[in-house]
Amino acid sequence: MALGRKEALRPKSFRLKRPRTARPLSEKELAIDHSRQNSPPLKPFLKWAGGKRQLLPEILKLLPNNIGDFKYYEPFLGAGALFFELAPRRAAIGDHNQELVAAYRAIRDDVDELVEALTEHQANHGEEYYYKVRELDRDGPAFGALSDAKRAARLIYLNKACFNGLYRVNSKGFFNVPFGRHAHPLICDEHNLRRIHRLLNRKDAEIEILGLDFEAAVASAGPGSFVYFDPPYHSPNKANFTDYQAGGFDESEQRRLRDVFAARAKAGALCLLSNSDAPFIRQLYGRFEIVPVKAKRAINSDKTGRGEVGEVLVKNWK
Ligand SMILES: C[S@@+](CC[C@H](N)C(=O)[O-])C[C@H]1O[C@@H](n2cnc3c(N)ncnc32)[C@H](O)[C@@H]1O
Repeated sequence: MALGRKEALRPKSFRLKRPRTARPLSEKELAIDHSRQNSPPLKPFLKWAGGKRQLLPEILKLLPNNIGDFKYYEPFLGAGALFFELAPRRAAIGDHNQELVAAYRAIRDDVDELVEALTEHQANHGEEYYYKVRELDRDGPAFGALSDAKRAARLIYLNKACFNGLYRVNSKGFFNVPFGRHAHPLICDEHNLRRIHRLLNRKDAEIEILGLDFEAAVASAGPGSFVYFDPPYHSPNKANFTDYQAGGFDESEQRRLRDVFAARAKAGALCLLSNSDAPFIRQLYGRFEIVPVKAKRAINSDKTGRGEVGEVLVKNWK
């Protein structure tokens, strides 16, 4: 039961539907093929504000050919578009959003239970059900008693079913994004989740999932490391959603990030950063190479801000 001990929150008339069991996936379907000849690339399992899928072609053009030889660091992981595209063997990935980090760990450790819980969400999906699932975090002890997989399933379900795939919590830390009215959201993409599970458990790989602040997450990056920094974007007019969590990411955080970028660069790591094309950002990274790029943005609070926006990629190597 995906909702565990949540009977109290459910009206008596509310009945859960039993999902149908899917057939097991074959070895061929689960394979991760870097040549792309036999299987498609992995996909992010969430839609995340600031997700980098649109910018991937620009980023890939800049990467060194031997990127697979480097240890990959991504301390502002979000939906991890570049991480999944590269599917590195050695990596340290993380985010300070603990719900998000717990979801990556649940895919690594409990994928069967996660798929089962998501299949149940898929079978029961609807507006009334969405709000029942959304309310679970209002009941502290019962929410804390959910298994890691059920908690991760809740995050993935809310992300697929909510308005615009936003992650937003109120001042009490309760998820508060309204229902999304998508016609047929794919809530349980079992194929992709099981391939991600494979990637995170590969015998010949070493992938750490960290729930740390970005500075601590990249502290060991040096020669032989590649670090991709994709922070909440600097937004002088606050037109964009950069406030992922209480606390936000203000100018002093952008300065601290520049210092961390410079320190890792000095330690010998290849460093790449994306941010908005704003005078403040150009000034912060003035001594590094700045490559302007255009990206399509779907998540934006200001309708006039949709469409192409200027962004920059900052790199420390030639
Ligand atoms: C622009 S998003 C990353 C998007 C991601 N690259 C993708 O493709 O989906 C920025 C992420 O930084 C995280 N974050 C914000 N402040 C942080 C901090 N101080 N340390 C670590 N992560 C942080 C947010 O939780 C958010 O997931």
